[in-house]
Amino acid sequence: MNHLPSDMLPSRREFLARSAAAGAVLAGGLSLARSAHAAGSDIIRIGLVGCGGRGTGAAVNALKNAAGAKLKLVALADAFSSPMDISLKNIRKECKDQPDLVDVTPERKFAGLDSYQKLIDSGVDMVLLCSPPGFRPAHFEAAVKAGKNVFMEKPVATDSPGVRRVLAANEDAKKKGLLVSVGHHLRHEERYREAVQRIHDGAIGDLNFLRVYFNTVEIWIRPRQPSQTEFQYQVNNWYYFTWLSGDHIAEQHVHDIDVGNWIAQGYPVEAEGIGGRQVRIGKEYGEIFDHHTVEFTFANGLKMFSYCRQINETGFNYSQHAHGTKGRADLNGVGNSFLSVNGQKPIRWRVGADGHQTEMDDFFAAMLAGKPYNEADNGAKSTMTAIMGRMATYSGQVIRWDKAINSQLDLSPKTLAWDADTPVKPRPDGTYACAMPGRTKAY
Ligand SMILES: NC(=O)c1ccc[n+]([C@@H]2O[C@H](COP(=O)([O-])OP(=O)(O)OC[C@H]3O[C@@H](n4cnc5c(N)ncnc54)[C@H](O)[C@@H]3O)[C@@H](O)[C@H]2O)c1
Repeated sequence: MNHLPSDMLPSRREFLARSAAAGAVLAGGLSLARSAHAAGSDIIRIGLVGCGGRGTGAAVNALKNAAGAKLKLVALADAFSSPMDISLKNIRKECKDQPDLVDVTPERKFAGLDSYQKLIDSGVDMVLLCSPPGFRPAHFEAAVKAGKNVFMEKPVATDSPGVRRVLAANEDAKKKGLLVSVGHHLRHEERYREAVQRIHDGAIGDLNFLRVYFNTVEIWIRPRQPSQTEFQYQVNNWYYFTWLSGDHIAEQHVHDIDVGNWIAQGYPVEAEGIGGRQVRIGKEYGEIFDHHTVEFTFANGLKMFSYCRQINETGFNYSQHAHGTKGRADLNGVGNSFLSVNGQKPIRWRVGADGHQTEMDDFFAAMLAGKPYNEADNGAKSTMTAIMGRMATYSGQVIRWDKAINSQLDLSPKTLAWDADTPVKPRPDGTYACAMPGRTKAY
Protein backbone atom coordinates (compact mmCIF):
# COMPACT_ATOMS: atom_id res chain seq x y z
CA MET A 1 0.00 0.00 0.00
CA ASN A 2 1.14 3.49 -0.73
CA HIS A 3 0.25 5.06 2.59
CA LEU A 4 3.14 7.47 2.70
CA PRO A 5 2.77 10.29 5.19
CA SER A 6 2.29 13.50 3.27
CA ASP A 7 5.57 14.97 4.53
CA MET A 8 7.45 12.12 2.85
CA LEU A 9 5.86 12.84 -0.50
CA PRO A 10 7.32 15.39 -2.88
CA SER A 11 5.31 18.55 -3.37
CA ARG A 12 3.52 18.66 -6.70
CA ARG A 13 5.97 21.24 -8.08
CA GLU A 14 8.98 19.18 -6.93
CA PHE A 15 7.38 16.12 -8.44
CA LEU A 16 6.77 17.80 -11.77
CA ALA A 17 10.28 19.23 -11.83
CA ARG A 18 11.76 15.82 -11.13
CA SER A 19 9.58 14.21 -13.77
CA ALA A 20 10.60 16.79 -16.33
CA ALA A 21 14.27 16.25 -15.51
CA ALA A 22 13.90 12.54 -15.90
CA GLY A 23 12.82 13.16 -19.49
CA ALA A 24 12.13 10.27 -21.75
CA VAL A 25 12.75 7.62 -19.11
CA LEU A 26 9.77 8.83 -17.17
CA ALA A 27 7.63 9.67 -20.15
CA GLY A 28 4.72 7.53 -18.89
CA GLY A 29 4.87 9.03 -15.42
CA LEU A 30 5.12 12.53 -16.78
CA SER A 31 2.05 12.11 -18.91
CA LEU A 32 0.16 10.84 -15.88
CA ALA A 33 1.27 13.83 -13.87
CA ARG A 34 0.37 16.24 -16.65
CA SER A 35 -3.05 14.79 -17.06
CA ALA A 36 -3.76 15.09 -13.35
CA HIS A 37 -4.43 18.81 -13.18
CA ALA A 38 -4.84 21.97 -15.17
CA ALA A 39 -1.70 23.53 -16.60
CA GLY A 40 0.06 25.91 -14.25
CA SER A 41 -1.81 24.83 -11.13
CA ASP A 42 -0.92 22.71 -8.15
CA ILE A 43 -4.50 21.83 -7.53
CA ILE A 44 -6.54 18.98 -8.98
CA ARG A 45 -10.06 20.27 -9.70
CA ILE A 46 -12.57 17.52 -9.11
CA GLY A 47 -16.22 17.23 -10.11
CA LEU A 48 -18.80 14.90 -8.60
CA VAL A 49 -21.44 13.22 -10.77
CA GLY A 50 -24.24 11.69 -8.69
CA CYS A 51 -24.53 13.59 -5.41
CA GLY A 52 -26.16 10.96 -3.22
CA GLY A 53 -24.87 9.15 -0.16
CA ARG A 54 -21.84 7.51 -1.75
CA GLY A 55 -20.96 10.41 -4.01
CA THR A 56 -20.87 12.72 -1.01
CA GLY A 57 -18.69 10.24 0.87
CA ALA A 58 -16.38 9.72 -2.10
CA ALA A 59 -15.89 13.48 -2.48
CA VAL A 60 -14.95 13.82 1.19
CA ASN A 61 -12.63 10.80 0.99
CA ALA A 62 -10.92 12.31 -2.06
CA LEU A 63 -10.58 15.79 -0.54
CA LYS A 64 -9.13 14.28 2.65
CA ASN A 65 -6.75 11.89 0.89
CA ALA A 66 -3.74 10.95 2.99
CA ALA A 67 -1.44 10.86 -0.03
CA GLY A 68 -0.97 14.62 0.07
CA ALA A 69 -2.58 15.39 -3.29
CA LYS A 70 -4.08 18.87 -3.28
CA LEU A 71 -7.67 18.85 -4.48
CA LYS A 72 -10.56 21.24 -4.80
CA LEU A 73 -14.17 20.22 -5.39
CA VAL A 74 -15.37 22.66 -8.03
CA ALA A 75 -18.44 21.16 -9.71
CA LEU A 76 -21.47 18.98 -9.04
CA ALA A 77 -23.82 17.17 -11.40
CA ASP A 78 -26.98 15.29 -10.60
CA ALA A 79 -30.15 14.28 -12.36
CA PHE A 80 -32.04 16.41 -9.82
CA SER A 81 -31.20 19.68 -8.06
CA SER A 82 -32.00 18.88 -4.46
CA PRO A 83 -29.38 16.14 -3.89
CA MET A 84 -26.68 18.64 -4.91
CA ASP A 85 -27.72 21.09 -2.20
CA ILE A 86 -27.78 18.39 0.47
CA SER A 87 -24.49 16.93 -0.70
CA LEU A 88 -22.75 20.30 -0.80
CA LYS A 89 -23.94 21.10 2.70
CA ASN A 90 -22.65 17.76 4.00
CA ILE A 91 -19.31 18.02 2.20
CA ARG A 92 -18.81 21.55 3.57
CA LYS A 93 -19.64 20.28 7.05
CA GLU A 94 -17.11 17.45 6.76
CA CYS A 95 -14.50 19.89 5.49
CA LYS A 96 -15.27 22.73 7.90
CA ASP A 97 -11.63 22.88 9.02
CA GLN A 98 -10.49 23.36 5.42
CA PRO A 99 -13.22 25.41 3.69
CA ASP A 100 -10.91 26.12 0.75
CA LEU A 101 -11.31 22.53 -0.40
CA VAL A 102 -14.79 23.32 -1.67
CA ASP A 103 -15.39 25.94 -4.34
CA VAL A 104 -18.65 25.00 -6.04
CA THR A 105 -20.32 28.09 -7.47
CA PRO A 106 -23.99 28.06 -8.60
CA GLU A 107 -22.81 28.12 -12.25
CA ARG A 108 -20.94 24.87 -11.63
CA LYS A 109 -23.96 22.97 -10.31
CA PHE A 110 -25.50 21.09 -13.21
CA ALA A 111 -28.87 19.36 -13.05
CA GLY A 112 -30.45 16.98 -15.55
CA LEU A 113 -29.72 13.83 -17.50
CA ASP A 114 -26.96 15.56 -19.49
CA SER A 115 -25.43 17.18 -16.39
CA TYR A 116 -22.44 14.79 -16.46
CA GLN A 117 -21.34 16.18 -19.84
CA LYS A 118 -21.70 19.77 -18.69
CA LEU A 119 -19.59 18.98 -15.64
CA ILE A 120 -16.93 17.24 -17.75
CA ASP A 121 -16.83 20.28 -20.03
CA SER A 122 -16.61 22.75 -17.13
CA GLY A 123 -12.86 22.56 -16.66
CA VAL A 124 -12.48 19.77 -14.10
CA ASP A 125 -9.35 17.59 -14.06
CA MET A 126 -10.94 14.54 -12.52
CA VAL A 127 -14.43 13.13 -12.04
CA LEU A 128 -16.05 11.00 -9.38
CA LEU A 129 -18.79 8.94 -11.08
CA CYS A 130 -21.35 8.00 -8.44
CA SER A 131 -24.73 8.00 -10.16
CA PRO A 132 -26.88 4.84 -10.39
CA PRO A 133 -24.81 2.28 -12.31
CA GLY A 134 -27.08 2.13 -15.37
CA PHE A 135 -25.61 5.49 -16.42
CA ARG A 136 -22.00 4.62 -15.66
CA PRO A 137 -20.89 3.34 -19.10
CA ALA A 138 -21.97 6.61 -20.79
CA HIS A 139 -20.44 8.71 -18.02
CA PHE A 140 -17.16 6.80 -18.05
CA GLU A 141 -16.95 6.89 -21.84
CA ALA A 142 -17.45 10.68 -21.88
CA ALA A 143 -14.90 11.24 -19.09
CA VAL A 144 -12.27 9.17 -20.88
CA LYS A 145 -12.99 10.87 -24.20
CA ALA A 146 -12.34 14.20 -22.50
CA GLY A 147 -9.09 12.90 -20.93
CA LYS A 148 -10.22 13.01 -17.29
CA ASN A 149 -8.91 10.84 -14.48
CA VAL A 150 -11.74 8.85 -12.94
CA PHE A 151 -12.96 7.38 -9.70
CA MET A 152 -16.12 5.38 -10.39
CA GLU A 153 -18.35 3.41 -8.11
CA LYS A 154 -19.21 -0.22 -8.59
CA PRO A 155 -21.00 -1.81 -10.34
CA VAL A 156 -19.78 -0.21 -13.55
CA ALA A 157 -22.77 -1.26 -15.67
CA THR A 158 -26.06 -3.14 -15.47
CA ASP A 159 -25.99 -5.13 -18.73
CA SER A 160 -23.49 -6.74 -21.11
CA PRO A 161 -23.49 -3.92 -23.70
CA GLY A 162 -22.65 -1.57 -20.81
CA VAL A 163 -19.79 -3.79 -19.62
CA ARG A 164 -18.40 -3.95 -23.15
CA ARG A 165 -18.65 -0.16 -23.41
CA VAL A 166 -16.64 0.25 -20.20
CA LEU A 167 -14.00 -2.24 -21.36
CA ALA A 168 -13.70 -0.45 -24.71
CA ALA A 169 -13.48 3.01 -23.13
CA ASN A 170 -10.87 1.68 -20.75
CA GLU A 171 -8.62 0.69 -23.65
CA ASP A 172 -8.68 4.37 -24.53
CA ALA A 173 -8.06 5.36 -20.91
CA LYS A 174 -4.97 3.14 -20.82
CA LYS A 175 -3.65 4.61 -24.07
CA LYS A 176 -4.12 8.10 -22.64
CA GLY A 177 -2.42 7.15 -19.37
CA LEU A 178 -5.48 8.10 -17.33
CA LEU A 179 -5.85 6.85 -13.79
CA VAL A 180 -9.05 4.92 -13.09
CA SER A 181 -10.22 3.71 -9.71
CA VAL A 182 -13.29 1.49 -9.11
CA GLY A 183 -15.04 1.46 -5.72
CA HIS A 184 -14.17 -2.08 -4.66
CA HIS A 185 -12.99 -0.73 -1.34
CA LEU A 186 -12.39 -4.14 0.26
CA ARG A 187 -9.42 -4.54 -2.08
CA HIS A 188 -7.90 -1.54 -0.28
CA GLU A 189 -8.40 -2.76 3.27
CA GLU A 190 -5.28 -4.07 4.95
CA ARG A 191 -6.87 -7.18 6.44
CA TYR A 192 -8.20 -8.22 3.04
CA ARG A 193 -4.91 -7.57 1.30
CA GLU A 194 -2.92 -9.56 3.85
CA ALA A 195 -5.34 -12.49 3.95
CA VAL A 196 -5.67 -12.74 0.16
CA GLN A 197 -1.89 -12.50 -0.23
CA ARG A 198 -1.46 -15.40 2.19
CA ILE A 199 -4.07 -17.44 0.32
CA HIS A 200 -2.24 -16.75 -2.94
CA ASP A 201 1.02 -17.74 -1.25
CA GLY A 202 -0.52 -21.14 -0.45
CA ALA A 203 -1.23 -20.71 3.29
CA ILE A 204 -4.48 -22.71 3.13
CA GLY A 205 -3.29 -25.05 0.37
CA ASP A 206 -5.17 -25.60 -2.87
CA LEU A 207 -8.63 -24.05 -2.93
CA ASN A 208 -11.53 -26.47 -2.55
CA PHE A 209 -14.38 -23.95 -2.78
CA LEU A 210 -15.40 -20.36 -2.00
CA ARG A 211 -18.52 -18.96 -0.32
CA VAL A 212 -19.60 -15.31 -0.57
CA TYR A 213 -22.56 -13.58 1.12
CA PHE A 214 -24.44 -10.29 1.21
CA ASN A 215 -27.54 -11.14 3.21
CA THR A 216 -29.11 -8.06 4.70
CA VAL A 217 -32.31 -6.06 5.13
CA GLU A 218 -34.14 -3.73 2.76
CA ILE A 219 -32.58 -0.43 1.83
CA TRP A 220 -34.43 2.83 1.14
CA ILE A 221 -37.57 3.34 -0.98
CA ARG A 222 -38.24 6.66 -2.74
CA PRO A 223 -42.03 6.94 -3.12
CA ARG A 224 -43.64 8.19 -6.31
CA GLN A 225 -44.47 11.92 -6.29
CA PRO A 226 -47.59 13.13 -8.14
CA SER A 227 -45.62 15.58 -10.31
CA GLN A 228 -43.13 12.96 -11.56
CA THR A 229 -43.02 11.42 -15.00
CA GLU A 230 -42.49 7.66 -15.02
CA PHE A 231 -38.89 8.29 -16.11
CA GLN A 232 -38.26 10.65 -13.18
CA TYR A 233 -39.84 8.18 -10.79
CA GLN A 234 -37.66 5.30 -11.95
CA VAL A 235 -34.43 7.34 -11.91
CA ASN A 236 -35.24 8.55 -8.40
CA ASN A 237 -36.30 5.12 -7.08
CA TRP A 238 -33.48 3.58 -9.11
CA TYR A 239 -32.59 0.69 -6.84
CA TYR A 240 -35.65 -1.32 -7.87
CA PHE A 241 -35.18 -1.20 -11.64
CA THR A 242 -32.70 -3.60 -13.20
CA TRP A 243 -31.75 -1.22 -16.02
CA LEU A 244 -30.62 1.27 -13.37
CA SER A 245 -29.21 -0.82 -10.51
CA GLY A 246 -28.49 -4.21 -12.06
CA ASP A 247 -30.56 -5.75 -9.18
CA HIS A 248 -28.95 -6.09 -5.75
CA ILE A 249 -26.83 -9.05 -6.89
CA ALA A 250 -24.93 -6.52 -9.03
CA GLU A 251 -25.43 -3.36 -6.99
CA GLN A 252 -24.43 -4.74 -3.60
CA HIS A 253 -23.31 -8.37 -3.77
CA VAL A 254 -20.73 -7.49 -6.43
CA HIS A 255 -18.43 -6.59 -3.51
CA ASP A 256 -18.37 -10.20 -2.33
CA ILE A 257 -18.26 -11.65 -5.82
CA ASP A 258 -15.26 -9.41 -6.52
CA VAL A 259 -13.46 -10.71 -3.43
CA GLY A 260 -14.14 -14.27 -4.63
CA ASN A 261 -12.73 -13.42 -8.07
CA TRP A 262 -9.70 -11.82 -6.39
CA ILE A 263 -9.04 -14.97 -4.35
CA ALA A 264 -9.61 -17.22 -7.38
CA GLN A 265 -7.40 -14.95 -9.54
CA GLY A 266 -9.86 -15.10 -12.40
CA TYR A 267 -13.49 -14.87 -13.43
CA PRO A 268 -16.04 -17.70 -13.52
CA VAL A 269 -16.83 -19.40 -16.81
CA GLU A 270 -20.32 -20.52 -15.80
CA ALA A 271 -23.22 -19.70 -13.47
CA GLU A 272 -26.29 -21.60 -12.39
CA GLY A 273 -28.71 -20.05 -9.93
CA ILE A 274 -32.07 -19.71 -8.28
CA GLY A 275 -33.74 -16.50 -7.14
CA GLY A 276 -37.01 -14.67 -6.79
CA ARG A 277 -39.07 -12.14 -4.87
CA GLN A 278 -40.86 -13.55 -1.90
CA VAL A 279 -41.43 -10.59 0.42
CA ARG A 280 -40.55 -7.43 -1.47
CA ILE A 281 -43.39 -7.56 -3.99
CA GLY A 282 -45.22 -4.20 -3.68
CA LYS A 283 -45.29 -1.61 -6.43
CA GLU A 284 -42.63 0.47 -4.68
CA TYR A 285 -40.15 -2.39 -5.19
CA GLY A 286 -40.11 -2.21 -8.97
CA GLU A 287 -38.97 -5.40 -10.65
CA ILE A 288 -35.88 -6.69 -8.79
CA PHE A 289 -35.63 -9.94 -6.81
CA ASP A 290 -35.20 -10.05 -3.04
CA HIS A 291 -32.91 -13.10 -3.06
CA HIS A 292 -30.47 -14.85 -5.38
CA THR A 293 -28.23 -17.86 -4.89
CA VAL A 294 -25.70 -18.74 -7.55
CA GLU A 295 -23.14 -21.47 -8.08
CA PHE A 296 -20.27 -20.01 -10.10
CA THR A 297 -17.67 -22.29 -11.70
CA PHE A 298 -14.14 -21.15 -12.60
CA ALA A 299 -12.15 -22.58 -15.51
CA ASN A 300 -10.20 -24.93 -13.19
CA GLY A 301 -13.43 -26.35 -11.75
CA LEU A 302 -13.31 -24.28 -8.56
CA LYS A 303 -16.81 -23.47 -7.29
CA MET A 304 -17.93 -20.20 -5.70
CA PHE A 305 -21.27 -20.36 -3.89
CA SER A 306 -22.89 -16.94 -3.77
CA TYR A 307 -25.85 -15.80 -1.68
CA CYS A 308 -27.57 -12.44 -1.43
CA ARG A 309 -30.82 -11.44 0.21
CA GLN A 310 -32.54 -8.15 1.11
CA ILE A 311 -35.41 -9.06 3.40
CA ASN A 312 -36.27 -7.40 6.71
CA GLU A 313 -36.07 -9.40 9.94
CA THR A 314 -33.61 -11.87 8.41
CA GLY A 315 -30.02 -12.63 9.41
CA PHE A 316 -27.11 -10.40 8.41
CA ASN A 317 -24.07 -11.84 6.63
CA TYR A 318 -21.55 -9.78 4.67
CA SER A 319 -18.62 -12.15 4.39
CA GLN A 320 -16.42 -14.16 2.09
CA HIS A 321 -14.81 -17.54 2.77
CA ALA A 322 -12.11 -19.61 1.12
CA HIS A 323 -11.76 -23.30 1.97
CA GLY A 324 -8.47 -24.98 1.10
CA THR A 325 -6.75 -28.33 1.52
CA LYS A 326 -4.76 -26.99 4.51
CA GLY A 327 -7.15 -24.54 6.15
CA ARG A 328 -9.65 -21.76 5.58
CA ALA A 329 -9.97 -17.99 5.46
CA ASP A 330 -13.05 -16.21 6.83
CA LEU A 331 -13.16 -12.59 5.73
CA ASN A 332 -15.76 -10.19 6.98
CA GLY A 333 -16.88 -6.89 5.48
CA VAL A 334 -17.71 -5.38 8.86
CA GLY A 335 -16.03 -7.56 11.47
CA ASN A 336 -12.88 -9.43 12.38
CA SER A 337 -11.36 -11.66 9.72
CA PHE A 338 -9.53 -14.93 10.29
CA LEU A 339 -7.16 -17.23 8.49
CA SER A 340 -6.88 -20.70 10.02
CA VAL A 341 -4.28 -23.23 8.97
CA ASN A 342 -5.20 -26.71 10.20
CA GLY A 343 -3.58 -27.44 13.57
CA GLN A 344 -2.39 -23.85 14.12
CA LYS A 345 -3.77 -20.89 16.05
CA PRO A 346 -5.87 -18.75 13.66
CA ILE A 347 -4.52 -15.38 12.56
CA ARG A 348 -7.01 -12.65 13.37
CA TRP A 349 -7.34 -9.21 11.75
CA ARG A 350 -9.51 -6.56 13.36
CA VAL A 351 -11.37 -4.07 11.18
CA GLY A 352 -8.84 -1.43 10.19
CA ALA A 353 -8.84 1.80 8.22
CA ASP A 354 -11.95 2.29 6.08
CA GLY A 355 -11.39 1.10 2.52
CA HIS A 356 -13.44 4.01 1.17
CA GLN A 357 -10.65 6.25 2.43
CA THR A 358 -7.68 4.01 1.64
CA GLU A 359 -8.86 3.45 -1.95
CA MET A 360 -8.57 7.22 -2.46
CA ASP A 361 -5.25 7.34 -0.62
CA ASP A 362 -3.88 4.61 -2.91
CA PHE A 363 -5.21 6.32 -6.02
CA PHE A 364 -3.68 9.72 -5.24
CA ALA A 365 -0.42 8.18 -4.05
CA ALA A 366 -0.12 6.52 -7.46
CA MET A 367 -0.98 9.80 -9.18
CA LEU A 368 1.69 11.68 -7.22
CA ALA A 369 4.24 8.97 -7.90
CA GLY A 370 3.43 9.05 -11.63
CA LYS A 371 2.51 5.38 -11.54
CA PRO A 372 -0.11 3.74 -13.76
CA TYR A 373 -3.31 2.92 -11.89
CA ASN A 374 -6.27 1.30 -13.54
CA GLU A 375 -8.93 -0.88 -11.91
CA ALA A 376 -11.56 -0.66 -14.64
CA ASP A 377 -10.94 -3.98 -16.42
CA ASN A 378 -11.32 -5.86 -13.16
CA GLY A 379 -14.28 -3.71 -12.14
CA ALA A 380 -16.00 -4.45 -15.44
CA LYS A 381 -15.34 -8.20 -15.20
CA SER A 382 -16.56 -8.45 -11.61
CA THR A 383 -19.66 -6.49 -12.64
CA MET A 384 -20.04 -8.96 -15.53
CA THR A 385 -19.75 -11.88 -13.10
CA ALA A 386 -22.64 -10.49 -11.04
CA ILE A 387 -24.69 -9.86 -14.18
CA MET A 388 -23.99 -13.44 -15.32
CA GLY A 389 -25.33 -14.60 -11.94
CA ARG A 390 -28.45 -12.48 -12.46
CA MET A 391 -28.91 -13.91 -15.96
CA ALA A 392 -28.86 -17.37 -14.39
CA THR A 393 -31.36 -16.56 -11.62
CA TYR A 394 -33.70 -14.58 -13.90
CA SER A 395 -33.69 -17.20 -16.66
CA GLY A 396 -33.30 -20.46 -14.77
CA GLN A 397 -30.66 -21.47 -17.31
CA VAL A 398 -26.98 -22.34 -16.99
CA ILE A 399 -25.15 -19.30 -18.36
CA ARG A 400 -21.62 -19.45 -19.79
CA TRP A 401 -19.29 -16.43 -19.63
CA ASP A 402 -18.94 -16.13 -23.42
CA LYS A 403 -22.69 -16.07 -23.87
CA ALA A 404 -23.08 -13.59 -21.01
CA ILE A 405 -20.46 -11.07 -22.05
CA ASN A 406 -21.55 -11.18 -25.70
CA SER A 407 -25.23 -10.82 -24.85
CA GLN A 408 -27.05 -8.22 -26.93
CA LEU A 409 -29.71 -7.70 -24.28
CA ASP A 410 -29.59 -3.95 -23.83
CA LEU A 411 -31.57 -2.78 -20.80
CA SER A 412 -31.09 0.94 -21.37
CA PRO A 413 -33.83 3.32 -22.57
CA LYS A 414 -33.81 4.24 -26.26
CA THR A 415 -34.04 7.94 -25.41
CA LEU A 416 -32.72 9.71 -22.36
CA ALA A 417 -35.31 12.35 -21.48
CA TRP A 418 -37.70 12.95 -18.62
CA ASP A 419 -40.69 12.38 -20.87
CA ALA A 420 -39.19 9.39 -22.70
CA ASP A 421 -40.41 5.81 -22.55
CA THR A 422 -38.91 3.74 -19.74
CA PRO A 423 -37.56 0.26 -20.52
CA VAL A 424 -40.09 -1.22 -18.09
CA LYS A 425 -43.57 0.10 -17.41
CA PRO A 426 -45.99 -0.30 -14.52
CA ARG A 427 -49.02 -2.52 -14.91
CA PRO A 428 -52.50 -1.00 -14.33
CA ASP A 429 -52.25 -1.71 -10.58
CA GLY A 430 -48.89 0.08 -10.39
CA THR A 431 -46.76 -3.06 -9.90
CA TYR A 432 -44.02 -4.13 -12.30
CA ALA A 433 -43.50 -7.55 -13.85
CA CYS A 434 -40.41 -9.31 -12.56
CA ALA A 435 -38.30 -11.94 -14.29
CA MET A 436 -39.93 -15.37 -14.45
CA PRO A 437 -37.41 -18.22 -14.74
CA GLY A 438 -38.15 -20.38 -17.74
CA ARG A 439 -40.05 -17.57 -19.44
CA THR A 440 -37.92 -14.43 -19.28
CA LYS A 441 -35.25 -13.62 -21.86
CA ALA A 442 -32.59 -12.55 -19.39
CA TYR A 443 -29.41 -12.81 -21.50
N1 LIG B 1 -18.57 1.17 -2.50
C1 LIG B 1 -19.55 1.21 -1.64
O1 LIG B 1 -19.42 0.82 -0.50
C2 LIG B 1 -20.86 1.81 -2.06
C3 LIG B 1 -21.80 2.14 -1.09
C4 LIG B 1 -23.00 2.72 -1.51
C5 LIG B 1 -23.25 2.92 -2.85
N2 LIG B 1 -22.31 2.56 -3.77
C6 LIG B 1 -22.55 2.79 -5.20
O2 LIG B 1 -22.55 4.18 -5.45
C7 LIG B 1 -23.48 4.51 -6.47
C8 LIG B 1 -24.47 5.53 -5.93
O3 LIG B 1 -25.13 4.99 -4.82
P1 LIG B 1 -25.76 5.90 -3.66
O4 LIG B 1 -26.00 5.00 -2.51
O5 LIG B 1 -24.94 7.11 -3.48
O6 LIG B 1 -27.15 6.27 -4.34
P2 LIG B 1 -27.98 7.62 -4.14
O7 LIG B 1 -29.32 7.38 -4.71
O8 LIG B 1 -27.86 8.09 -2.74
O9 LIG B 1 -27.19 8.64 -5.08
C9 LIG B 1 -27.23 8.59 -6.47
C10 LIG B 1 -27.36 10.02 -6.99
O10 LIG B 1 -27.22 9.99 -8.40
C11 LIG B 1 -28.21 10.87 -8.93
N3 LIG B 1 -28.46 10.52 -10.32
C12 LIG B 1 -29.41 9.69 -10.83
N4 LIG B 1 -29.29 9.62 -12.16
C13 LIG B 1 -28.27 10.44 -12.51
C14 LIG B 1 -27.70 10.82 -13.73
N5 LIG B 1 -28.14 10.30 -14.90
N6 LIG B 1 -26.69 11.71 -13.74
C15 LIG B 1 -26.26 12.24 -12.57
N7 LIG B 1 -26.76 11.92 -11.36
C16 LIG B 1 -27.76 11.03 -11.34
C17 LIG B 1 -29.39 10.71 -8.02
O11 LIG B 1 -30.31 11.77 -8.14
C18 LIG B 1 -28.72 10.63 -6.66
O12 LIG B 1 -28.56 11.89 -6.09
C19 LIG B 1 -24.11 3.19 -6.89
O13 LIG B 1 -23.42 2.66 -7.98
C20 LIG B 1 -23.89 2.29 -5.69
O14 LIG B 1 -23.82 0.94 -6.03
C21 LIG B 1 -21.13 2.04 -3.39
